[in-house]
Amino acid sequence: MATERTLSIIKPDGLEKGIIGKIITRFEENGLKPVAMRMQHLSQREAEGFYVVHKARPFFKDLVTFMTSGPVVLMVLEGENAIAKNREVMGATNPANAAPGTIRKDFATDVEKNTVHGSDSPENAKTEIAYFFRDTEITPYASKR
Ligand code: CMP
Repeated sequence: MATERTLSIIKPDGLEKGIIGKIITRFEENGLKPVAMRMQHLSQREAEGFYVVHKARPFFKDLVTFMTSGPVVLMVLEGENAIAKNREVMGATNPANAAPGTIRKDFATDVEKNTVHGSDSPENAKTEIAYFFRDTEITPYASKR
């Protein structure tokens, strides 16, 4: 298995629920190290650009409205097989279908307020990381996990 990086977003409902720390703990306990992190209130333009692949979907407008409704936490997570591991730790997009013990099962409200975003492929991880972070903002460090 290779060390990978993936983009994670704690969505506005995660901040509203006061669970930033709990979510980051889940990542750290699963070998996913935050190597870049920033809190940001996305503009409409930033949210639309980030989710441009979903532009034609019926939920696009509501998704952008929700993602700009409050601040988010943007992170780059690094670890072995980080892209798939992050998706496993997050659980299914719709919390109704998420496995027990996953972030979305435990904390998400519905398919829109689903608490976290994670890149779904190596190609998208690269694009999504570059959308929010410069290389110089990514800071690897040693850890026991
Ligand atoms: P995310 O992983 O951030 O990627 C796109 C988001 O669209 C997804 O999580 C959901 O929060 C959101 N979304 C809203 N409605 C739907 C839907 N019906 N199907 C899939 N995604 C949806």
